Amino acid sequence: MLDVIGHGLIGPELIGQGVPQLLAASTERSVAVVLLAVVVVGWAMYVFVNIRQAKAEAGSEIELAPNRGRMPDDDELEGPRLEKVQAFGVLMLLVMALVLPVYWMLEGGRRSGAETAFSEDAANRGESLAAEQECTNCHGADLGGARFAPVVLDIGHQFVDTGSFIINTTWEGPSLDDVFTRFDTDAETLDETSEVRQILVYGRGVMPAWGLDGGGPLNDQQIDDLVAWLWREQISDEEAMERAATRKAAEQAANPDKSEGRVLFELNCARCHTPRWPGRGPAQLPNNGGTVDVLPGPPGAGRYGPSLNSVSLGRLFPEIEDHVAFIAAGAADNVPFGEFARLGNYGMPGFGRVLTEDEIRAIAEYERSLDPESQTAIEFERLREAGDDS
Ligand code: HEC
Ligand code: HEC
Repeated sequence: MLDVIGHGLIGPELIGQGVPQLLAASTERSVAVVLLAVVVVGWAMYVFVNIRQAKAEAGSEIELAPNRGRMPDDDELEGPRLEKVQAFGVLMLLVMALVLPVYWMLEGGRRSGAETAFSEDAANRGESLAAEQECTNCHGADLGGARFAPVVLDIGHQFVDTGSFIINTTWEGPSLDDVFTRFDTDAETLDETSEVRQILVYGRGVMPAWGLDGGGPLNDQQIDDLVAWLWREQISDEEAMERAATRKAAEQAANPDKSEGRVLFELNCARCHTPRWPGRGPAQLPNNGGTVDVLPGPPGAGRYGPSLNSVSLGRLFPEIEDHVAFIAAGAADNVPFGEFARLGNYGMPGFGRVLTEDEIRAIAEYERSLDPESQTAIEFERLREAGDDS
């Protein structure tokens, strides 16, 4: 019966994880725990009874010695007695025939239980790594995003030949508790994710690279742990939609003059498609030491993502429905989109799991109304007046 442990109903790996893991388990593990208890109690009773009987025998060895009692004769030995032993053998065979399939049935659950425990460990390690690297400084304490995340940029190479020139500024840090609604949107398990891993390894826009391959401090295992942590922290699609709706309502109430499409664009798209969005207030100028008000550039004039306006979008997506479908799905690495088969590059997220189709259409209409002439003209004018080089 102790084989139960050796053969994996309670596998060695689970024993290693201590009592809480053992108890927070599936039915089959509870059954195994009960069996174990029965075995232990059974053995205790057996030992107890045995000791008592041994005491009763003391002093009467001459009468009780087994070879002095009556032995069964041949008839009995080869008849009922033999049959009893044979029946016992058949019974044991039956038990094995039953236990093996049951064991096989439970094996799947045991393995997925071990997998869950495994990714839970990875997520815990990722959480400590995230605390060390201070991800929440820029992405919000609850991972819900931060409009003015503090970032330090080294722009030295633009102004001096050698050395660095550091400016302290702010940037919009996106929410991470719903990042898998935008990237890796088809992934059903942690193993199927790749875009978020790619973003972490190589960095993204003003966010530094975290993986060794991108020049960052963390090895592959640590990046995997961070992804497992992000996977665990995800809120449901319903919660993400509800939050998006609340944010939209608040923004609309504060800006009654802005169209729905524009409000949604500023909430979801401007951080990548509008220069300097959402603006940074007064900033120190590196070249002359003065300060300047850093304001957002013309809507959709392009930053990390390309410039979006009536002309370019009219060419790329002659039908607005294709434009809507693209925003809903996002771009995948090396997968062509639009009229002239532009290739995606992990850049453009998908919004179809959080925004409704009508909302996405409102954004598409807003983007298709942006005037490329004024985008460049306003930008040029503004830069000339401000003397801003960023
Ligand atoms: C210095 C601030 C900062 C820190 C620290 C930081 N991030 Fe970021 N992160 C950003 C910004 C800003 C972006 C958006 C990129 C852009 O706008 O250029 C981003 C983007 C991302 C994205 C892509 C999400 C999207 O929708 O674009 C992920 C995933 C991410 N960060 C995860 C992390 C993790 C995990 C950590 C900790 C190891 C971390 N970040 C630390 C600022 C930061
Ligand atoms: C994380 C940054 C990011 C965000 C947020 C983002 N985009 Fe993009 N977008 C990109 C990048 C990068 C591309 C270029 C394609 C690629 O590399 O995947 C792109 C491409 C596009 C294109 C195709 C334009 C072209 O010329 O190729 C459209 C249209 C678009 N985005 C619309 C939107 C809308 C609408 C939103 C908000 C609902 C949005 N984007 C949010 C980064 C972003």
